[in-house]
Amino acid sequence: MRKFARVRFDDEIYDRFAGRVVYYRMDFTNAGEYPALSDFYEAHGIGSGIFYFAVAPRFFRAITEGLGQVRGAAGWKVILEKPFGEELEDARELSARLESFFTPERVYRIDHYLGKEMIRGIQTLRFSNPIFARAWNAEAVECVQILADETVGVETRGGYYDHSGALRDMVQNHLFQILSILAMEAPADADPERLHDAQLAVLRALRQPEDIAGALVLGQYEHYRTEPQVKPDSRTETYAALRLFVDTARWKGVPFYIRTGKRLRRREMAVTIVFRAAEGAESCLLTLRIQPEEGVSLRFNIKTPGQSDAVLPVTMDYCQSCMIRAQQNTPEAYERLLTACMRGERAWFSQWDQIETCWRFIDALKSAYAAAGLAPETYAPGSDGPAGADALLARLGHRWEDTEPAFE
Ligand code: BG6
Repeated sequence: MRKFARVRFDDEIYDRFAGRVVYYRMDFTNAGEYPALSDFYEAHGIGSGIFYFAVAPRFFRAITEGLGQVRGAAGWKVILEKPFGEELEDARELSARLESFFTPERVYRIDHYLGKEMIRGIQTLRFSNPIFARAWNAEAVECVQILADETVGVETRGGYYDHSGALRDMVQNHLFQILSILAMEAPADADPERLHDAQLAVLRALRQPEDIAGALVLGQYEHYRTEPQVKPDSRTETYAALRLFVDTARWKGVPFYIRTGKRLRRREMAVTIVFRAAEGAESCLLTLRIQPEEGVSLRFNIKTPGQSDAVLPVTMDYCQSCMIRAQQNTPEAYERLLTACMRGERAWFSQWDQIETCWRFIDALKSAYAAAGLAPETYAPGSDGPAGADALLARLGHRWEDTEPAFE
């Protein structure tokens, strides 16, 4: 706690917190141990709460059945972490089982990207600024770029990752959530269900590419196959770049590019809206920097100062993370989502319909890729990823826009 706390460590606050922590050790796969867990809760006066299933999905069934023996457990809430199952059918069955035990309103599926400050801010940036809201469409936008580059490798999670790969680990959930918030129509009202509906409509409008080689580039970093628990002949992708289209009137013909990968040159998560360019000028860019720096920047064109009349692109930066107050007031994604669950706020949790729609989309994409006989390109750790990702954008005359902040 001392090492990682973002704010000043306060002994008194910590002691108050620590005094309320109790620990109980058991084998959660053993049904016979649950009555004792029930007694333990009772002995500590714990009558309600949240179960957090931070375990592999193969244990969900056994735990849910065991909890049937814990008095009042069905009235608690449950938080689930991805993956929500091994395969889609299995995930759907698990989901139905959990919802029938806890009721659907008490099942919270966490996607920690939905707790990130700048992702929460997308709607405000778009809808509170008519200059952006009115230009948020195919008439004004050339393309949209969503990127999540990481420098870390698979670390100790080789077993899980080798089964999932970048498409399922990052794209199917985190990045599709961002895409759906960016591309949705304005929710009809503030009811969380309206937000979910608006997002779902986008996900359902995602078009499966006809030419898979022109829409999906996968990569694998060198030496990935020697990582612990990774198969020596693994074809799992650690990098993915996609070009997708959302078949709605608003986004007709506008490509949405998504890019994510492990062991890349730098850690950077950002969204860039590339506006259509005027003759003889560069595109205006609106960039939302999500992490590690948080901020918004706008690139626009001016006349070169001085004698020249040449058009010059310049960038205006709002650096949110440069402001100490903003930083202290920015709860970590998980803090925010745990608080939301305690309060029963469901808007920023994934809904099963969304998960299933994304899952189906990615499954179909993966099958098409395999059927076309394609395989991930190898890329050097610390590089910008496979060269194919640049070619993917070049097909429509685009390039990955630089999102590095101009400030130090
Ligand atoms: C997790 C993925 O959901 O998100 C990881 O399983 C990934 O592979 C992580 O590294 C990224 O999260 P963040 O908050 O560091 O961007």
